[in-house]
Amino acid sequence: MKRSLFVIGLAFSSASFSQNLNIIPAPVSAEARTGTFTITASTKIILEGSGTKKTADFFNNYLKEYYGFTLPVAKPKAPEKNAIVLNFDKIENAVPGAYNLAVDKDKVYIGGDDEEGVFYGMQTLIQLLPVEKSPALTVQQCVIADAPRFAYRGLHLDCGRHFFSVDFVKQYIDFIALHKMNTFHWHLTEDQGWRIEIKRYPKLTQVGSCRAGTATGHNKGNDSTPYCGYYTQAQVKDVVKYAADRYVTIIPEIEMPGHGLAALASYPYLGCTKGPYKTGEKWGVFKDVYCAGNDSTYKFIENVLDEVMALFPSKFIHIGGDECPKDAWKTCPVCQKRIKSEGLKDENALQSYFIQRVEKYLNSKGRNIIGWDEILEGGLAPNATVMSWRGEEGGIAAAKQHHKVVMTPGKYVYFDHAQSKKEDSLTIGGDLPLEVVYEYEPVPAELGPDESSYVMGAQANVWSEYMANTSKVEYMLFPRLSALSEVLWSPKAAKSWDNFLSRMQVQYKRYGLWKVNYNTKGINKGE
Ligand code: ACM
Ligand code: ZN
Repeated sequence: MKRSLFVIGLAFSSASFSQNLNIIPAPVSAEARTGTFTITASTKIILEGSGTKKTADFFNNYLKEYYGFTLPVAKPKAPEKNAIVLNFDKIENAVPGAYNLAVDKDKVYIGGDDEEGVFYGMQTLIQLLPVEKSPALTVQQCVIADAPRFAYRGLHLDCGRHFFSVDFVKQYIDFIALHKMNTFHWHLTEDQGWRIEIKRYPKLTQVGSCRAGTATGHNKGNDSTPYCGYYTQAQVKDVVKYAADRYVTIIPEIEMPGHGLAALASYPYLGCTKGPYKTGEKWGVFKDVYCAGNDSTYKFIENVLDEVMALFPSKFIHIGGDECPKDAWKTCPVCQKRIKSEGLKDENALQSYFIQRVEKYLNSKGRNIIGWDEILEGGLAPNATVMSWRGEEGGIAAAKQHHKVVMTPGKYVYFDHAQSKKEDSLTIGGDLPLEVVYEYEPVPAELGPDESSYVMGAQANVWSEYMANTSKVEYMLFPRLSALSEVLWSPKAAKSWDNFLSRMQVQYKRYGLWKVNYNTKGINKGE
């Protein structure tokens, strides 16, 4: 059976936006109705049509964690009363993730275009629940029609500078899902630590997952305390499944040709000077990078990527590409020989050769590369997607060349930057208050309508130099993640800073229910 979205055409009308529903990200259309429906332990979840139990399981886990009870899952039986009905039938002309939600006196009805749509409808229902623990959850009657604005709604986590447990990574994936986002960019290799088991190269984790000490202050001292951590392949598989059950795709990042010091420390033949190298202990950019002349470097990378592809079904594999100093290549005879033999102009062209060679390999396995905007330098690989981080320029240039783009400009979505001038904990610096995240527009004004279609969406990056524990990660994430979710999901015309702040008053209480650490300083621009 085909159904329509309740609101045809998805045109957002601010008049239809209902203040008291307090949903973040704001839906395309939402109308509060008089009256309520109450969920108790005797309310049933009904699955209508062909869909899995994933959304019902997610909701039951959420209820158990925060309200202390779960609901039975039952077969359809008309008329449905005291029920949450999940309907999986197609919705005509809907984008992936679209859903309808209606709450009346007898039931909650969620109809998704697909399972993913049902899942997002359930995230909206979660936003309608009380923010205190209770055995009876009163929900406002309402009618909602909703669909995402961008297909790519991402959040990154740097597990290289600091290592975070599987349990926390799963919680992080829950944060992504609860905000109707769908991509987790898992930064797994860095100068300061290699974090993924590669069976063919055991030293990557025996050696490269450890550093002898960690910088203190802004690279002022060193704590001389060994720091280690990595994910086994079994753990990675478990996390990938956990994410898939929440409609989150994990894009793994294996950094090259820079930010690879931990790999060089493990296998010194990978560098231009052959070492010895030590896993990084300071923050910043290191001049020791993968040798771009030696075929053995490419063989290593291909072998690593084979194991990575076996673990991650994602179409995209992130190959880094940023911040690769060319000093070592300039004095390396093998790199210089490669420049001559390939007829390359200079070391920038050698970087481009490196990325294109890896792209060709990944394309031959049916995958696509995504890389930081430096991959534009010296010529973009033919099928590459660009992550624009140094500003919006890289994204604009790539879209104009008809390459796909994910926007992650530092000025708007670098969640390692302080949230306020009043920040008293150690951060990398910068100044990114909630309001600036909220006002971010991922489609640059410089792009025409055709070019704009190459902007898949945006992502916030969470670099962890100054986040040594999960409490600090949460503090840097919240409340900015809520603003980002609205940038990515809600219609552009729906955005209103004042209205968002008013809905945030409830969301802050929900953070309290979740027991997450969140920042309260510096909400407005310039604070
Ligand atoms: C980056 O922030 N170096 C991509
Ligand atoms: Zn070299």
